[in-house]
Amino acid sequence: MEPVKKLSRSVKGLSVLVTGAASGMGRATAHAFADEGAQVAVTDFNEAGARAVAEEISTGGGTARAWALDVSDADAIRRVVGEVASAFGGLDILINNAGIPAAVPIDHERYEAVWERAVSVLLTAQQRTIRAALPHLRKSKSPRIVNIASTEALGATARDSAYAAAKAGVTGLTRALAVELGPEGITVNCICPGPVRTGMTAAIPEGDKETYARRRTVLRRYGDPEEVAHITLSLCLPAASFLTGVTIPVDGGLMARNA
Ligand code: NAI
Repeated sequence: MEPVKKLSRSVKGLSVLVTGAASGMGRATAHAFADEGAQVAVTDFNEAGARAVAEEISTGGGTARAWALDVSDADAIRRVVGEVASAFGGLDILINNAGIPAAVPIDHERYEAVWERAVSVLLTAQQRTIRAALPHLRKSKSPRIVNIASTEALGATARDSAYAAAKAGVTGLTRALAVELGPEGITVNCICPGPVRTGMTAAIPEGDKETYARRRTVLRRYGDPEEVAHITLSLCLPAASFLTGVTIPVDGGLMARNA
């Protein structure tokens, strides 16, 4: 009998860059990759936070280094991506995770400013990190890009149109680049987290979180950042080589639920 084709379930030794990795899902993602033996570039505009996460990982026996990176700074993206690739001897995996809330009513005087910042941090930054990473990804044996969007890209909430528009842009960017880069073997996928306990949702009172989760999710609870991080990791395994161009809600069933 022909042996079943061997597909690797390991990211050991691969190098990964995570944006917004000082907190929440980015931090959990950095840990998940490091736990599996990857070399992790922990980047964030919160430099102290990035250092703390890299130290946590190193203390636990993993391989990580911190970089200060504000993803709204195009020059910094090019510089840091180059530094990471030099430090780790290449770059195999890019996780576009950095994000900010951007809730604002459409007729608010600050709408334009909030929109500009949302599009810059949530969407424009992702194409920039991808373009900076491409020359390195092209040299990888298992090149992977995962873009973090949101269930707000698939459904919508009032007074959150800047965020929803930017996140919907991420799903379009993902599909288009999957088609464009697929012939080179580079996979590009998107994750849409639902309600997850992170820095971004920390200010929501516990009772409100519970009420929302019971009403909207099938699993009737908020998710933990690790539950998203592990799906992100799965999409980056060498074995995930035939999966590209998809947008996956990781949302406790929120998008599946009608009533
Ligand atoms: P978080 O607030 O815990 O982490 C976001 C990280 O991004 C922080 O460390 C922050 O310093 C960093 N960041 C913000 N602006 C940056 C910039 N200009 N440059 C570099 N880093 C920057 O939030 P969370 O929830 O972990 O967010 C991760 C991603 O998940 C974001 O893209 C967010 O939009 C998305 N998301 C979060 C959901 C949730 O329920 N928490 C739901 C759906 C999507």
